[in-house]
Amino acid sequence: MSKVLLTGGTGFIGSHTAVKLLEQGHEAVLADNLSNSSRDVVDRIEQITGKRPVFYEIDVADRQALADLFRKESPDAVIHFAGYKAVGESVAKPLMYYRNNLDTTLTLLETMAQFDCRRIIFSSSSTVYGASQPPFNEDSPTGGCSNPYGWTKFMIEKILEGAAHADERLSVVLLRYFNPVGAHASGLIGEKPGGIPNNLMPFITQVAAGKRDHLNVFGNDYETPDGTGVRDYIHVVDLAKGHVAALNYAESHTGTEVFNLGTGKGTSVLEMIHAFERANGLTIPYVIAPRRPGDLAFSFAETRKAEAVLHWKAEKNIEDMCRDAWRFEKGLL
Ligand code: WQD
Repeated sequence: MSKVLLTGGTGFIGSHTAVKLLEQGHEAVLADNLSNSSRDVVDRIEQITGKRPVFYEIDVADRQALADLFRKESPDAVIHFAGYKAVGESVAKPLMYYRNNLDTTLTLLETMAQFDCRRIIFSSSSTVYGASQPPFNEDSPTGGCSNPYGWTKFMIEKILEGAAHADERLSVVLLRYFNPVGAHASGLIGEKPGGIPNNLMPFITQVAAGKRDHLNVFGNDYETPDGTGVRDYIHVVDLAKGHVAALNYAESHTGTEVFNLGTGKGTSVLEMIHAFERANGLTIPYVIAPRRPGDLAFSFAETRKAEAVLHWKAEKNIEDMCRDAWRFEKGLL
């Protein structure tokens, strides 16, 4: 069993991963500056698992605070989620994105080296495949990202690869997520975007809740079966299990390894709206709007590598994602 530091541990994916780690007997130490999450997530993780994770309200780029954490906790491994993640905001404030996401990672890696912590799992994104053709596999070319957020993921992958190349004792696992959605089945933790949601599922749940009067479908003239964008949506609980599998893998391997975490199945925007309506017995009003700049027609994963090497496979379907996302949103009303 390992003691694991989760940077960004009270965020959407971090909190679900903390639950899975605790359920499997690991210890979880959460570090988060609460810039996009709140302290009550810690109580909720305890409610779900019966175990209270240790929580540090710190900025991971704060070298002194992070060193204090490492001195007190001596984590065996780190799962690095902390970072800004809004695509549009990254276009408007590129320097803020590069400064925050890169600084956080560099400070973390230097502190890990200082305290002899040699295992790191990184929260990367399918966005690094940029202009490649789907289905994306782990050897598909990366780069050509359409926004600074994507470039920070690309650059951090390179930084981690370089660190593992220079120190052969390091173990680095890069996890490229497709489109994480859904929530824990308890309805206690989930995705809570501040302001107007950028992503499809939180927008749908806010329309369902009456917080917004309709959904804009960004384009219906793509080269896809129904003309709307196709994505590989993955339930956040499946994603969390993928992190535990990666952590176990990293325990006995050094060097850098990359895995896609997706389902391999594509769902269009219209299919998602209708699945949500069926799963929850609701109607989602929508209008067809212009394409959103930078969007791809298609994105989905080739998933064989994670199945073969991590023995991990996504199990939940679109209905589970819609039902669980709505249960969480209802809990906020
Ligand atoms: C999905 C589909 C939209 C909203 C982005 C980032 C990625 C990752 C997740 C994370 C697309 C359509 C959306 C709406 C719509 N980053 N849509 N109306 O763009 O695949 O991925 O978020 O933190 O790196 O690039 O996800 O959920 O925004 O969009 O029609 O109001 O839904 O055009 O086809 P995307 P998304």
